[in-house]
Amino acid sequence: MAGVPIVPPGPFDTVEAAFGEGAVGRSLRLRGWVLRARSSGGIAFLVLRDRTGSVQVTAKRDVVGDGPFARVEHVQVEASVRLVGTVAADPRAPGGREVRATALEIVHAGEPFPIFSDQTEEFRLDKRHLVIRSQEHVATFRVKAELLRALREFLERESVLEMTPPVLTGNPAEGGAEAFAIDYFGRPGYLSQTAQLYLEALLFPNERVYALTPSFRAEKSRTPRHLTEYLHLEVELAWVGLADLLDFVERMTVEVSHAVAERRPKELQLLGRPPQELRELEGPFPRLTYRQAIERLRDQGFPVEFGTDLGTAEERALTLEARTPLFVTHFPVGLKAFYMLRSVDDPETVEAADLLAPEGYGEIVGASARETDIDRLLERLRATGAKPEEYEWYLDLRRHGSIPHAGFGLGVERLLRWMLRREHIRETTPFPRTPSRHTP
Ligand code: 4AD
Ligand code: MG
Repeated sequence: MAGVPIVPPGPFDTVEAAFGEGAVGRSLRLRGWVLRARSSGGIAFLVLRDRTGSVQVTAKRDVVGDGPFARVEHVQVEASVRLVGTVAADPRAPGGREVRATALEIVHAGEPFPIFSDQTEEFRLDKRHLVIRSQEHVATFRVKAELLRALREFLERESVLEMTPPVLTGNPAEGGAEAFAIDYFGRPGYLSQTAQLYLEALLFPNERVYALTPSFRAEKSRTPRHLTEYLHLEVELAWVGLADLLDFVERMTVEVSHAVAERRPKELQLLGRPPQELRELEGPFPRLTYRQAIERLRDQGFPVEFGTDLGTAEERALTLEARTPLFVTHFPVGLKAFYMLRSVDDPETVEAADLLAPEGYGEIVGASARETDIDRLLERLRATGAKPEEYEWYLDLRRHGSIPHAGFGLGVERLLRWMLRREHIRETTPFPRTPSRHTP
């Protein structure tokens, strides 16, 4: 940018250093972006933001010089600056500290920042690349990063190995209608809806595997809980049945909730989730069979019968008053995917469960024991209208050392939406993909 650098080269401090013990009186070298700016008389007030926080900066014309001061008077919101300044205690400043600039340099003064309050949601989505600088989004994605870390740490403790399955695939695994079809050099291809079938293959040599990959759903549903691209955590465990799998899901949900509450309390608070609510989360989560859920819903006046899918309204009714997640288990065969194991005790149902988040947020995990009988798999594939030839490789897994196993998929943004009490799932991902939008 124009002008000679006024801040000489050298290592920089971060904003949080201004609030440290013994910081008052120290000289700091800071750089970042302007959150707000105003000036009156010969003094300019800036609020400077970097990745560690924000601090009030004052710059006096007679200290920083006429040239730099004139430039500071014209900075826009989100201008980038570098400065040297002395930390002072000031009870009027946010956090009780301010930095009094001794040298100040505008890196980029910027154009008028187009984002302010009361703009339409559509406009804000068009400007998502700038909107994500907001405090709420910064807090959200820090919690998300912590959640991902906590999930990986949990899986590490449980000796589950991370795998990297493909996202470009030759067969739709969760039902063709909701797969994004692509032209793969003249042959049909699909964006992955689930890594499950690949994880099942990887299970045989590794026994306990997981993947954290994007999944894609070509669902035109405009709901506050559907994205067309979401981050999918999928786990597959050998020698495990449904009950043990649900214990695992429960432990994972509790432990990652505690970790997030421990590590990101400020961000949770800012977003409207008191951290103690996550800290207090404990198992066991109630387990309700689908048949029991139907009963309960009928008592509440829902016109449901065996075979009715549980939609948003039904899931909401089951959990609206709950503080703890709820498992609904043993769904009718016809409602669920081809790979789910038929229940022995109740053969009209499968060994499957959905975990519903409390407070009406709906399904966050889909889990099941997997069918090991090859004929039943073929029968179920045909019943769902799939072409068994496309699944030949998967059927091979039932031909060589087939074992009982089970797994689940967790929608990371779904979990986060509940944790952060977000109205819409799109707020849990920086660049949301929905039926009406895949830009920016
Ligand atoms: O219940 P689903 O469809 O299950 C599967 O795909 C299994 N093959 C997973 C497995 O067992 N490995 O999806 C799993 C989870 C859901 O519970 C939900 O949390 C999330 O993925 N999910 C979505 N999240 C956001 N937007 C969507 N459109 C989603 N569809 C599913
Ligand atoms: Mg599901």
